[in-house]
Amino acid sequence: AEYDLVIRNTTIATASDVVKGDIGIAGGRVVALGERLDKGHREVDGTGRIAVPGGIDAHVHFDQDTADGSVFCDDFESGSRAAAAGGTTTIIPFAYQNKDQPLRDAVNKYHARAEGKSLIDYAFHVILSDASEKIMGQDFTALVADGYTSFKVYMTYDDVKLTDREMLDALAAARREQAMLMIHAENSDCITWLTERLELKGMTAAKFHATSRPFVVEREATHRAISLAELLDVPMLLVHVSAKEAMHEIQRAQARGLRVYGETCPQYLFLSEEDFEKPGDEGAKCVCSPPPRGTDNQEHIWTGLSANTFQVLSSDHAAFRFDDVRGKKLPGARESFRKIPNGVPGVETRLPLLFSEGVNKGRISLQQFVALSSTNAAKIYGLHPRKGTIAVGSDADIVLWDPERKVSLTNSILHHNCDYTPYEGRELTGYPVMTLSRGEVVMDEGRMSGSAGRGQFQKCDRPEAARPRGRPLIDPSIFN
Ligand code: URP
Ligand code: ZN
Ligand code: ZN
Ligand code: ZN
Repeated sequence: AEYDLVIRNTTIATASDVVKGDIGIAGGRVVALGERLDKGHREVDGTGRIAVPGGIDAHVHFDQDTADGSVFCDDFESGSRAAAAGGTTTIIPFAYQNKDQPLRDAVNKYHARAEGKSLIDYAFHVILSDASEKIMGQDFTALVADGYTSFKVYMTYDDVKLTDREMLDALAAARREQAMLMIHAENSDCITWLTERLELKGMTAAKFHATSRPFVVEREATHRAISLAELLDVPMLLVHVSAKEAMHEIQRAQARGLRVYGETCPQYLFLSEEDFEKPGDEGAKCVCSPPPRGTDNQEHIWTGLSANTFQVLSSDHAAFRFDDVRGKKLPGARESFRKIPNGVPGVETRLPLLFSEGVNKGRISLQQFVALSSTNAAKIYGLHPRKGTIAVGSDADIVLWDPERKVSLTNSILHHNCDYTPYEGRELTGYPVMTLSRGEVVMDEGRMSGSAGRGQFQKCDRPEAARPRGRPLIDPSIFN
């Protein structure tokens, strides 16, 4: 046999197994798994390392348009580099559709932004801000056929939110095409009403961001989204679930046999309301939606991960610089939390945090780590088995972890373009030490290599996970 690279004598972890052996790589793919494989042109000693399928970060915002003058500080170059440094080999950012914009135009615009920049492979989700027949009819079917098979819809934020009626349009279209819908579930009117009251009372500090979007607001919208999906018999995934109450809605839906999936994020495991109390303007660093909850909530979310209520742990990397008038200090942000750009950085810290506090502390198994960080996203978004596993024939997107490496997280060791990390000062055990993207080393002991733009666009298949159960409450011929 003829290998470009052999990773020798390592622990190979997938979502189902942990075995010892060698990995033979040729032409950017895994071509052999076994013992005592022939010599490769390059040999990597995997002793004491764990080889996992490269992470898939299925929720990141890079170089995205905004409506308020804020600027996402990571583009496809800095964002993908940070991803690779943190053990991720595939990113799925968003192509954002402006209202009235044809979907195809939105997709082309974000392709142009990724072109020549991404270090690692990428696919796109499309944010639907207009689900009208005029827009959907034109492009939706063609886009799904072209490999854009997941769409995010918002129940809040004035520039993107859909009414329940528009949600039904989106759900019906997703059902027809077997596309995956991702739902941002928060009750918009509740948030607006509470925000106005808080501002009238002069309660405008960053911490009142959390007061303006309490768990009920998320629970209600989660319940409503599930109800709409149940009505039309369409699978869907609730993104960035923050609180146990919304999580319980998902559990109840799953217990009824509905194809309802859940994603959560590190900010709901490691941040809490208390972070908003930090001195000065520091609270703004943790402003994201939904907001982090009480510290007691964190263990509930961990339970949701270990009990497989959540299938995916993504970063929701939405990075704005802290000391920047285009970031967390946008004009007006000091006068009201309402003006603070929403989002936290996390594409590089997602997996080290999950490994250290999840695997090493015994909250999740190594196989669950792989499932939550890579395999399940590959399946839910139609990239499996090309991505998301270490198997003969799959892309050689492989990350070697040193499970004992001690690292003090601090922003200066990170590769993103953000001027802070909300996890500053955390002591971690376990860190990625080598990242391979289609067999090419893009990170070795923290040193980055590989050219910007080497990352390739990945067409997604229609996900099996998006197939309707076939037990609709009403006759689908009415809405097909
Ligand atoms: O606050 C957040 N999460 N900002 C990013 C956009 C979103 O809703 O995911
Ligand atoms: Zn040769
Ligand atoms: Zn969202
Ligand atoms: Zn997001």
